[in-house]
Amino acid sequence: MNILFASSEVAPFIKTGGLADVAGSLPKALAASGHDVRVILPLYEGISWEWRNQMNYLFNFNVTLAWRTPYCGIFELKRDGVTYYFVDNEYYFKRAGLYGHYDDAERFAFFSRAVVETPGYLNWHPDVLHANDWQTALACIYLLEERHRIPMLYGTQSVFTIHNIEYQGRYGKELMVDLFGLNSGYFHEHMLAYHGDINLMKGAIYAADYVTTVSPTYAEELQYAFYAHGLEGVIADNRHKIRGILNGIDTALYDPATGNGIAAPFTADDLSGKAACKAALQQAVGLRQDPNTPIIACVSRLVAHKGFNLVTAAIHDIMAMDVQMVVLGTGDWGYEEAFRQAQSQYPGRFSANIMYNAALSNAIYSGADIFLMPSEAEPCGLSQMIAMRYGTLPVVRETGGLKDSVRPNGVEGATGFTFANINAQDMVWVLGEAVGLYYNNKDAWHYLQHNAMTADFSWNRSAEDYLQIYNWITGKEMHPGRPFEEGPAESEAPAEAPVTEDASPVEEAPVAEEVPAPAEEAPMAEEIPAPAEEVPVTEEVPAPAEEAPVTEEVPAPAEVTPVSEEAPAPKPAKKTAGRKTTAAKKAPARKSAKAAEDPAAKKPVRKTAAKKTTKKAAPTEEKK
Ligand code: GLC
Repeated sequence: MNILFASSEVAPFIKTGGLADVAGSLPKALAASGHDVRVILPLYEGISWEWRNQMNYLFNFNVTLAWRTPYCGIFELKRDGVTYYFVDNEYYFKRAGLYGHYDDAERFAFFSRAVVETPGYLNWHPDVLHANDWQTALACIYLLEERHRIPMLYGTQSVFTIHNIEYQGRYGKELMVDLFGLNSGYFHEHMLAYHGDINLMKGAIYAADYVTTVSPTYAEELQYAFYAHGLEGVIADNRHKIRGILNGIDTALYDPATGNGIAAPFTADDLSGKAACKAALQQAVGLRQDPNTPIIACVSRLVAHKGFNLVTAAIHDIMAMDVQMVVLGTGDWGYEEAFRQAQSQYPGRFSANIMYNAALSNAIYSGADIFLMPSEAEPCGLSQMIAMRYGTLPVVRETGGLKDSVRPNGVEGATGFTFANINAQDMVWVLGEAVGLYYNNKDAWHYLQHNAMTADFSWNRSAEDYLQIYNWITGKEMHPGRPFEEGPAESEAPAEAPVTEDASPVEEAPVAEEVPAPAEEAPMAEEIPAPAEEVPVTEEVPAPAEEAPVTEEVPAPAEVTPVSEEAPAPKPAKKTAGRKTTAAKKAPARKSAKAAEDPAAKKPVRKTAAKKTTKKAAPTEEKK
């Protein structure tokens, strides 16, 4: 399958949150299954020269955005089997920060137009366009028409993933035609209209061929107003095509055995290095050197939905236990201030680090004992999985991905501690349980640590679930090139019992069988046909049957140009765009090589486009 994955942030290039981690690791896992996966993101000012120096300039063209035709340069970088396309327009993206600009609607409408128009210029047909969160929601809507207009998009199906429904992209309806370039007919209750405004996330949920969110429990929770932030009716309307798939993490990146980024390496079977990590953490954040006192850690944005009302309300109850506590993150002033005060009240026992610091977060994941994450809502959450990889046991509220990834103490294969209600005393009670176990039952503590460290948080299983959805909507094979008679291959095994492979070789074998993955996944597992059954499913999928041939009929490159109504006759590539960055200096060579092998490649480049460097896009500003 050809998969185009669109995201407004992608690790390791640029990151503000978990979306970047997912966009950085899921495509890699899909590519490892033999698919042609290409990721597209904006070329922000914040993307460092370490990456820019590895990019090749491919071409540029002019995006059609209502009456605007802004410049769009495409740079390419290949890494870990995935091709990354960086969308260059300095007017939109040469700014500090990723979001929060007055014209975000225009910036991400431009990006979404670039997402749907780029395949035509690449002469590459995506079977699936996978968009994420409100910033790329418009791509799903543009695709509704463009897949009948742009030959390279014939038959392309879309998947839209909700990483956090709180941020919906809500704008005045006057932007509909003039900015988004959509026919006013899209402004209706089963598309973009929302209480008299435009709601981009709502539109994508209706427009996409399939919708996913990042954990099975969050998918259930989205039926309720508390979690759905006004979109519960939209979710109900589209239930037939919504599914929750638990995120994975990059287990190679977060691997205590390598010792990367932490004070000393350690493993589930030899935790001695973790003591060194703990000492290093205490040293780094000003906690008393004490190997025997448990350290409770929070690494998070300090905002209400992460549960910090509970933490600040219970701070003295927590500190009344014989514990140390470290907090890392920035956010609402009230929480920041409460933690600063706690630090002065409990010198050597409480450490407030009001900042974002990747190195310190690694020190905390590896050196702490208990990871506190009492979120009111948590679509998936990645930190609790990272903490578990480092043997730091999570204390979480049973919501979203926290519920799906942490097995509570007391059940087979427990990996942490959980509580159900948004209630500070419930949280303190469970923290007390954790601290009690730490002090009084080291064997049980180590058993939980072992389970946590050996649970499978890789993408193995979830990537299969995404492939299954792609297969449903396109009819394309999940495992290209794998003969049917071969039966389930090794890489499919995790769908059955992901924990088994990694689980303790000691006495846990039977446990592993009973633990089908990070917590509570039984319902999900039921929905996923066992690998052996997947082949017939593939054969039966009727819908896309007509679409496959369409794809094969995709017209010759010569016909790609009609993409833009005013697309000109082929012109030699211009170097003008190349002056913008040093990476671009490679452009001419690259371009002619590309042109030689692919006649379509040179078409989109036109003189006017090249002259009109990104700054020339400025007229858009006047319109705002
Ligand atoms: C959002 C969610 C978080 C999730 C991440 C990746 O940041 O808030 O829970 O883990 O997206 O999907």
